[in-house]
Amino acid sequence: MKKAIVTGSTGQDGSYLIEFLLAKGYEIHALKRRSSSFNTDRLDHLYKDFHDSGTRFFLHYADLTDGSSLTRLLYDVRPDEVYNLAAQSHVKVSFEIPEYTADVVATGTLRLLEAIRLTGLKCRFYQASSSEMFGSTSPPQSETTVFHPRSPYACAKLFGHTITVNYRESYRLHASSGILFNHESPRRGETFVTRKITRAIAHIKLGLQNKLYIGNMEARRDWGYAPDYVRAMWMMLQQDVPDDYVIGTGEAHSVREFLDLAFAHANLDWHEFVEIDPRYFRPAEADHLLADASKARRVLGWQPSVTFKDLVRIMVEADLADVESKLRGGEALLRSTVESPGRNS
Ligand code: NAP
Ligand code: GDD
Repeated sequence: MKKAIVTGSTGQDGSYLIEFLLAKGYEIHALKRRSSSFNTDRLDHLYKDFHDSGTRFFLHYADLTDGSSLTRLLYDVRPDEVYNLAAQSHVKVSFEIPEYTADVVATGTLRLLEAIRLTGLKCRFYQASSSEMFGSTSPPQSETTVFHPRSPYACAKLFGHTITVNYRESYRLHASSGILFNHESPRRGETFVTRKITRAIAHIKLGLQNKLYIGNMEARRDWGYAPDYVRAMWMMLQQDVPDDYVIGTGEAHSVREFLDLAFAHANLDWHEFVEIDPRYFRPAEADHLLADASKARRVLGWQPSVTFKDLVRIMVEADLADVESKLRGGEALLRSTVESPGRNS
């Protein structure tokens, strides 16, 4: 049975990757960081008490800012594969906490690579790199496109990416980097623009909200469906030779187009509800990200299975169903979370 360590397990991609690897028969050791409230919502459906015999899914406390916790985990588990998905992953927030973002995203990746090197384990390594690294370079972007990062997050990811390449070249580590374009799902964090929109639609439809404040509507992103993207991560680590791959759909849409389609799906006109709030603009923006994923198609045989239109539909319908069921369970509770300040970033 293959063993995998997954960092960032409590996030969107972590939860889908763990589902995918469990279905392939892996034993999973997932890293979670200490939090004062429960942070395993996306994993709870997979978790069996570790006292149960036969469980293949274990959660461990560790943190990318704490190298000793990473070394201990590697020693204890001796994994075949390590997937590094942990990050302070919000681009706008990275302008507000740049040092912390760099510590987790850049130095955190180095800590994990160094822990692998020093323990001498022969495991395979996946790095969650990002299309944000391309920043202002013209679309479409492929593995050979010049990087021009436009945020502290993107700069930190660029270090994570290049240090992964460096450890592969210096120490012959089987280390691959997936340069993934935006991918979304009903499990997407609620402050990323797609989920912010679909969540707001459900609240508007059910009378809990009447305004949605957003920033730059002209930015264009190559939006795909997260479960397709975790499959690509695994495919990269099954190759004999480690390498870097761009993963995306090859189709870009603006935030405005996302609004059009999502509101229309709920029979609403977004012009009645959406207002621009300059607070959501970024000091520097990545205007147009569009993947040229031909290498992944050719070498890995990877291709996306969900279209942009279907992605929007899946997300709107999931939020409508979720908010409806929560409403049935306790409207007052839901109202207080919708109205609390600071959730709308
Ligand atoms: P996400 O939902 O924001 O999840 C991030 C994960 O990292 C969470 O589990 C979070 O834990 C964990 N984390 C944050 N700081 C940590 C620390 N100091 N130590 C350990 N864990 C920490 O992100 P995602 O969308 O799943 O993305 C997964 C990875 O792919 C990230 O590295 C992201 O930057 C990258 N990426 C994402 C996309 C995309 O479109 N989704 C595209 C390209 C690259 P908590 O739950 O406790 O916060
Ligand atoms: N979050 C947010 N909130 N974004 C907004 C808003 C808003 O109210 N209004 C407009 N936008 C625009 C942003 O300016 C950006 O151009 C676009 O919507 C997408 O923003 P996000 O959904 O926050 O994603 P991102 O593209 O900045 O970053 C995501 O994708 C990267 C890969 O390209 C994150 O998942 C990163 O972790 C990931 O690396």
